[in-house]
Amino acid sequence: MSGKTVLVTGSTGGIGKETARGLARLGADVILVGRNADRAEAAAAELRRDTGNPGVEALIADVTRRDDLRRLAEQVRARDGGLHVLINNAGVAKESRELTADGVEMAFAANVLAPFVLTHLLLPELRRAGRGRVVNIAGGVPRGRIDLDNLQGEKSYVGLAFYNQTKLALMAMSCAFAERLRESGITINVAYPGHAYTSMNKNLTTSAYPLAARPVVPLLRILMPVIYGGAAVEKAAASSIRLASDPGLAEVHGVYFNSKAERAPWPASVRDRRNRDAIWALCRELGRIEG
Ligand SMILES: NC(=O)c1ccc[n+]([C@@H]2O[C@H](COP(=O)([O-])OP(=O)(O)OC[C@H]3O[C@@H](n4cnc5c(N)ncnc54)[C@H](OP(=O)(O)O)[C@@H]3O)[C@@H](O)[C@H]2O)c1
Repeated sequence: MSGKTVLVTGSTGGIGKETARGLARLGADVILVGRNADRAEAAAAELRRDTGNPGVEALIADVTRRDDLRRLAEQVRARDGGLHVLINNAGVAKESRELTADGVEMAFAANVLAPFVLTHLLLPELRRAGRGRVVNIAGGVPRGRIDLDNLQGEKSYVGLAFYNQTKLALMAMSCAFAERLRESGITINVAYPGHAYTSMNKNLTTSAYPLAARPVVPLLRILMPVIYGGAAVEKAAASSIRLASDPGLAEVHGVYFNSKAERAPWPASVRDRRNRDAIWALCRELGRIEG
């Protein structure tokens, strides 16, 4: 990856930081993106030290804010050489419905709208670099329906169930994007990392779980760090690192990869044309993006 520039959102911790670490080890110039300057600078310093790669830097943006995404894209534009890989990793699961400063439901904003907007804004940089790659990070359980009347949790909101729907919506949006980017030379794919015990699941209280799962939450809290801590976080970065760097995947486009970095079928709700079109239209409207 020497000579290539990669941007990873949500890379101050968790899977994003491990993804950035892996790509820095491969020699890429890595732009970490975090919403907190101290955490982002600390992560960049840690990765420079750990990998011996001086080309790791931090940029600051809250991905749920349109203005921050625009400023971030301008900062990337001001650099030489374009952007070879964009990894839309930042993800959010909320216990209760919350709106962003822009008035969008928070999990939809981070998990669906931010990848949509940032990819649009950075398309010129991905073109400038040559065969640019976009990797979007899936999550939850890759099945279930998408309720078009509840895309921002307007009707009902159970944290993890809603998070699951946002990740299906991300997949549908990615498929719609892939159709539009065909022939562009830029590829867009989705990677599923697999479970990892990170701040995302550590910080969730029982109320975020669907009713049927709540009795087993105390047991999950004991088991999760044991099964999904430590090496699991590193392992969870493997599929996105592979999609970002494997020369054999340079032409692969519009594909969903599971946690073993193997091709997997898109869930039925993602293949549904009505879902793709409705989510695309909503993202255009909320993101104020033409096209
Ligand atoms: N953990 C799992 O088991 C699992 C499984 C499947 C998929 N995933 C997906 O993998 C991705 C990474 O998750 P993770 O488990 O590593 O979560 P995490 O440890 O909570 O990390 C999330 C990252 O996103 C950042 N972030 C959150 N909100 C942001 C915002 N508004 N603007 C900018 N950055 C923001 C966080 O930064 P701060 O330091 O500022 O909080 C953090 O660096 C997510 O897309 C998640 O949905 C995770």
